[in-house]
Amino acid sequence: MKVVVDAPACVGHARCHHVAPALFALDDNGYIAIATFEVPAGQEGLARRGARACPERALTVVEDPA
Ligand code: F3S
Repeated sequence: MKVVVDAPACVGHARCHHVAPALFALDDNGYIAIATFEVPAGQEGLARRGARACPERALTVVEDPA
């Protein structure tokens, strides 16, 4: 599974970071500081919740093909 990050869509709500700080790092101005990344095994639930928490829909979960 990966999380696709649309950095220009981020306006700094930081909700993703509050759900999963280890997955969604922010820069000094509070904007998302990471690019699209593979979700580590076992952290899929956190990744989904963090991505869902973004009101700007800047974070999109892409599930692995079955
Ligand atoms: Fe940005 Fe959305 Fe997170 S606006 S800081 S990606 S909750």
